[in-house]
Amino acid sequence: MRFGLRLRTPVMRFGLRLRTPVLILCIVTIGFLSLVLASCGQPSESAPDGESAKGDEETAPVSPGESADMSPFAQFYTYEPDRETRYVAYAKSHPELDLEDVVWMVDSDLDKAFYEDTVTAADPDALLVLVNKHEGLPENYEPSDLVNIDGAKMRKEAADALRKLMNAAADEGLTIIPQSGYRSYAYQVDLFNRYLRNDPENADSYSARPGFSEHQTGLTMDVNTHITQIEYFTGTREAMWVEENAHRFGFIVRYTSENETVTGYISEPWHLRYIGQRDATQMHDLGISSLEEYVVKHIRHTSSNS
Ligand code: DAL
Ligand code: ZN
Repeated sequence: MRFGLRLRTPVMRFGLRLRTPVLILCIVTIGFLSLVLASCGQPSESAPDGESAKGDEETAPVSPGESADMSPFAQFYTYEPDRETRYVAYAKSHPELDLEDVVWMVDSDLDKAFYEDTVTAADPDALLVLVNKHEGLPENYEPSDLVNIDGAKMRKEAADALRKLMNAAADEGLTIIPQSGYRSYAYQVDLFNRYLRNDPENADSYSARPGFSEHQTGLTMDVNTHITQIEYFTGTREAMWVEENAHRFGFIVRYTSENETVTGYISEPWHLRYIGQRDATQMHDLGISSLEEYVVKHIRHTSSNS
């Protein structure tokens, strides 16, 4: 020990004398270099991870479906992430559509063929029950509150509203009569089979298959001006009046030329569907032509709860 001390002590003293300015110089240099690097925007260990990713997001093109977060469809409030690939495929096959339309149409299963993968309405009694070529009614469903209205049947609330509509039309010198209201599943079987026998190519474009007719809801009435073929209603003053006024009484003209591709039916200006005054008026005021779009955007989703 003593030998060692004697030998090392002068060396250490010399070392300390020599190293102190060198150490100070090093510390100052490192500090200076750190400041220079930070001011040049070089990444440092403490920089937030997201910053460079955010920069990429702003410049990189977003391709549909890359991820749910980046999906261009996600900006619409009815968007469902598990339908992402369907939105992408539908947008690709329908380049004429706005992205917003793509979303509600896929939400309405319009990317599927009619009568493929159909579902049964959970609440057939609901005033806004959707019945179309994707969503049907239980075979044994029959509303419990059917009443007679001039020889046809309808649910009571709808029949009362139809009476008001007919009276208001009469006040303007117009005649509107009920022609075909509630139809049972069995009745629709006969009707559809008859159309199918006589006109197999076109039957689907004007007649619902059994279990998929709105007439089975008891909320629908085909109206006419007098008892004759229903097609003669088209183009009458009554048809024009109904188109403009039905919403005031809670009805919509369910099948129009505007919504043919959505409903799968040609125009039927006589087929009135009751949904209640509030919703019929809202649909009218929003300019929404199909119940499918309205139900997706305002009943199954609302902009405030999504
Ligand atoms: N004509 C309508 C589409 C029906 O059969 O229910
Ligand atoms: Zn009808």
